[in-house]
Amino acid sequence: MGSKEKVMQNRYVVVLAAGQGTRMKSKLFKVMHPVMGRPMVGHVVNAAIDADASEVITITGHGAEVVRDYLGDKSQYVFQEEQLGTAHAVMQAKDLLEGKEGTTLVLSGDTPLLRAETLQQLMAFHEEEEAKATILTALADDPFGYGRVIRTEDGLVSKVVEEKDASEDEKKVREINTGTYCFDNQALFQALEKVDNDNAQGEYYLPDVLEILKNDHEKVGAFQLDNMDEALGVNNRVALAEASRIMRERINEQHMTNGVSIIDPNSTYIEIDVEIARDTVVEPNTYIKGRTTIGEDAFIGLGSVISDSQLADGVEIKQSVIEESIIGKNSDVGPNSHLRTGSVLGESVHIGNYVEVKKSTIGNLSKAGHHTYIGDAEIGVDVNVGCGVVVANYNGITKNKTIIGDNSFIGSNATLVAPVEVGANSFVAAGSTITKEVPASALGIARARQENKEGFHERFFEKK
Ligand code: UD1
Ligand code: MG
Repeated sequence: MGSKEKVMQNRYVVVLAAGQGTRMKSKLFKVMHPVMGRPMVGHVVNAAIDADASEVITITGHGAEVVRDYLGDKSQYVFQEEQLGTAHAVMQAKDLLEGKEGTTLVLSGDTPLLRAETLQQLMAFHEEEEAKATILTALADDPFGYGRVIRTEDGLVSKVVEEKDASEDEKKVREINTGTYCFDNQALFQALEKVDNDNAQGEYYLPDVLEILKNDHEKVGAFQLDNMDEALGVNNRVALAEASRIMRERINEQHMTNGVSIIDPNSTYIEIDVEIARDTVVEPNTYIKGRTTIGEDAFIGLGSVISDSQLADGVEIKQSVIEESIIGKNSDVGPNSHLRTGSVLGESVHIGNYVEVKKSTIGNLSKAGHHTYIGDAEIGVDVNVGCGVVVANYNGITKNKTIIGDNSFIGSNATLVAPVEVGANSFVAAGSTITKEVPASALGIARARQENKEGFHERFFEKK
């Protein structure tokens, strides 16, 4: 235990996140682009924390405030005023790190797929080998755009050459730099002093540190991944989509391993913070987003979109959209219904087709089966809301509240003009426009009386 703690105290992480990300062609700063519901830099910093890094330092520049607001106290921050290259970026952490003993892990904010276990293996390998630097490399089918890892005849890393600086022969090398490295912290900051910007892009390249250390006869190692699934560096939207695909597959696999049935993982999108309990079934063409939790034995049917909601055990959603809502046990929604922000359904509530609910609570066992709008309402237990009922919650200026008591029956095509209250055990006659209170146990009728004109058919056609 004691010795493990000692090692952990001496591990630092520097996350490079200052670039604008020109190739993304975006207003949003590159590292804030989300991959399955989490900004890329969030994936990177979480992996570092899960790998037991004791101190995380994020280098910010473009979008510094946005990145800082997002990561909060997960990291310390250093500001890189001008983005003069990855070596220059690491150099900004000099005041915080120079002279300290230990291992420094450098990560790029644009490699969201790296796993904590891989970072742990990399650090362990680096420390076992007692190297001054260890680069994480990967074999790419298409290495275009990445720095190529150039090895000596005896297989040792001699340097990294960027795409724009590479000779034709070097471009053929398939082993790429993942932009992830471990350094002996003191050796890193000594070598950084010697990096120049004499290259095609006029930038201070971090991988140049490897060549500098090697020329100083220091030990430089490499830890190779045999595929790109973790190594992908996201510089443009094509790579962003690829990263999302890989992350999505990982997430889906995790849920299936945990006992969730996903009928077609290729058309099922579950963001990273979603939690789903076992024996729930998720049908194709579904998107489950944000901080959503779903209980056991639930059913998420074809074409549903669910975001930031809590669904209890046994909830059934058919082809519907659920946003920032809470749904109690064994309730069902859809097809083609929409729960908007702030909807809270009790247990065994039935919301059928073409129903919109907004910022309303609906008590246990209540039903709204067809073509209904319920806004800013408080509906009690075991209420029946008939077909075509409209809660008129908006007068053009303010939103007003409607209260419907337990066991009430609201007839089809009634309009309840808010603010209004319908007492418990009461009835509202079909087609009524209710503008004032219906007391408990009463029948409210608010419509013109029916009048029948006898013999109308004959009179009508005689005239013609
Ligand atoms: C870099 C590597 C390349 C590697 C690839 C892996 C260098 C010179 N090249 O290229 O060998 O194969 O990553 O994905 O390091 N950043 C700063 N400040 C700067 C410049 C960059 O913070 O001044 C940050 C960026 O925001 C980004 C990361 O560093 O998160 C990497 O920069 P990027 O421009 O994406 O480098 P690549 O061209 O991808
Ligand atoms: Mg990059």
